Amino acid sequence: MEQSGVFHVRMRAAKGGAHEVGGMHISGGEKLSSYEKLTEHINELVEKAFSHSRGNPDYFQVKVEAVTEPISFVSPLKPIHYLVPSVEKGSLLVKNRLACCGIRKAVIEKGFQLLEENYHVRGALLIDVETGERIDGRKDRGVRVSAFDWHEKSFTWWLAENRLTEQVRMKEAVALASKVCAHEWTVAEVCWSDDPDYVTGYVASPLFGYERVSQLKTEGDHRGGRLLFVRQDGNLDTYIHYLEKTPVWIGWEEEK
Ligand code: COA
Ligand code: AMP
Repeated sequence: MEQSGVFHVRMRAAKGGAHEVGGMHISGGEKLSSYEKLTEHINELVEKAFSHSRGNPDYFQVKVEAVTEPISFVSPLKPIHYLVPSVEKGSLLVKNRLACCGIRKAVIEKGFQLLEENYHVRGALLIDVETGERIDGRKDRGVRVSAFDWHEKSFTWWLAENRLTEQVRMKEAVALASKVCAHEWTVAEVCWSDDPDYVTGYVASPLFGYERVSQLKTEGDHRGGRLLFVRQDGNLDTYIHYLEKTPVWIGWEEEK
């Protein structure tokens, strides 16, 4: 393997055997890494695999691939935090924010209904912003956003700029949402985790940034999911290819 350039490192862990033989997904994570940082990054991902609230895996896999295309930069979204007193208020808030993005009420309701019927889907559901129909055609697989990581210096600047301290979940969620929202077809994204002990979720959009909502489900609930509201303007495969494959750094190329 080449000793220069950037490597895409991916980890997935499951319990009850590998995912493809029916094992339950425990955790996943990824990095874009220099050769010098490979060992450190792989160790961090192994650590992540074995420290998840969903339990200890009996299967995990780490894949390393050299990145062969140029990696562009996309700016991280601005974070806003809303504290809500209940799941109902959280859900209402998210729906209001989606309406502020110009999405019709009927489309928002249809999106939420689709999410509730498809908690088992392993990636995001793509929703046509005009019709509210699911358009990815990926059945139980959905679309998994991949090939992104924080540019480390930018992450430090972003934390300072927003007067935040590091939180791993938020770091990962903002990175993913920033990649998603950097594409001009994305109108908004909504997510809540399938981790039973993590009730915080978010709505993200190019217009309003990353809006974190303190409660979007009840404690102990194993169900989570992701919706991407999309204004399709051409072949959907190019959008899915961007989400899954196009490598991006989250951050700024120039020193802040
Ligand atoms: N939930 C359930 N099953 C999952 C899963 C998830 N989140 N991620 C992977 N799997 C399982 C599925 O069975 C999948 O098969 P499918 O493609 O038919 O659904 C199988 O593992 C293989 O998935 P694949 O995406 O090909 O594996 P990978 O090793 O290339 O990448 C991840 C796995 C988890 C790294 C990647 O999918 C991902 O989610 N990346 C984003 C992680 C992240 O948040 N990064 C933040 C960095 S700042
Ligand atoms: P998580 O935030 O990892 O708990 O994931 C919440 C939901 O988002 C999961 O139930 C999946 O449906 C979906 N999901 C997980 N990983 C990805 C990904 N990489 N891209 C898009 N959707 C994902």
